[in-house]
Amino acid sequence: MPVITEIEDLRRMHKRRTPKMFYDYAESGSWTEQTFRENSSDFDMIRLRQRIAVDMAGRSTKSQMIGEDVAMPVALAPVGLTGMQCADGEIKAARAAEKFGVPFALSTMSICSIEDVADHTTKPFWFQVYTLKDDEFMQRLFDRARAANCSAIVITVDLQIMGQRHKDLKNGLSAPPKFTIASMANLATKIPWGLEMLRTKRRFFGNIVGHAKGVSDPSSLASWTAEAFDPSLDWERIKQFRKMWGGKVILKGILDAEDAKKAVEVGADAIVVSNHGGRQLDGALSSIRILPEVMDAVGDKVEVHLDSGIRSGQDVLKALALGAKGTYIGRAFVNGLGAMGEAGVTKALEIIHKELDVTMALCGERDIANLGKHNLLVPKEFYGDWA
Ligand code: GLV
Repeated sequence: MPVITEIEDLRRMHKRRTPKMFYDYAESGSWTEQTFRENSSDFDMIRLRQRIAVDMAGRSTKSQMIGEDVAMPVALAPVGLTGMQCADGEIKAARAAEKFGVPFALSTMSICSIEDVADHTTKPFWFQVYTLKDDEFMQRLFDRARAANCSAIVITVDLQIMGQRHKDLKNGLSAPPKFTIASMANLATKIPWGLEMLRTKRRFFGNIVGHAKGVSDPSSLASWTAEAFDPSLDWERIKQFRKMWGGKVILKGILDAEDAKKAVEVGADAIVVSNHGGRQLDGALSSIRILPEVMDAVGDKVEVHLDSGIRSGQDVLKALALGAKGTYIGRAFVNGLGAMGEAGVTKALEIIHKELDVTMALCGERDIANLGKHNLLVPKEFYGDWA
């Protein structure tokens, strides 16, 4: 058993264990992957301010996200096809999150269905939806989420059309995988993954297959998004979704101060500053760079969260210090899941928790609520001079 000390260890194990098409699906950005790369490298531009001789005893990473107690303000982001990284992946990730005390957000494009995850967990989780054309299907998703006792809906507002990730096209991504010569050759090297997959019945998009009408190829993410997603989405429609759900709403995919103000107007309970992990508009700025501008615009009016680029507890601290009340990890937990199943997700959370805790201590902080810009050293060029 290798010694696992950082998320990068889990990523390498994930790559070895999981079929290429699913590993690549998680580890890609769109087009040139500039935004995908900068989501991480921009975190590296920010440095931390070390303080000494400050009492660091009795530290806590406990906090709240949308009024829910969290062991640390790090939620598991909704990630499509998680149940293909490892058999029953969403159930395993949800259980790890529940035991750790952080929120789990289930993707509509999950393999395990809402009902399946609810049956295998005891606490409410969040459910993510896209903005689809089909009102009846949307209403059914909301009803199913309500019946499963979900405590919030995360509406993805940056994916009316899907960004192109070259590898998905080249690999012929589908769930379950289609048997081509290339995919068979690769699957033959992933025996433990394959044996687990053969033992589960969960190999299709559990929230879609048998629920959505008029889907020509239910194994293809690309064809479903092209057919079902609403190109005419506007703020009125988002308001409508909020009414249809009737509970807490988190709007995910805000990358502009003007849009953040609109999100406040439509009554979002929280917004997620996000560029979808660099998977949508390649060339957009990183989430961490946009965060200060969004905080200036709406920080006193709505709870602001951040995703995209977080791979360590230090990244979490930087986002919190710049004003975010919560953060999300996507790839970091998927790496754990693909590496070692539920234990790997727990490991990813433990790594990030330890990094956050030790970083807080060395920055002279004991309480998440006290983190602020005073903990950071931010170079002028971080803010940029974008015209
Ligand atoms: C879906 O939301 C994806 O990014 O693939």
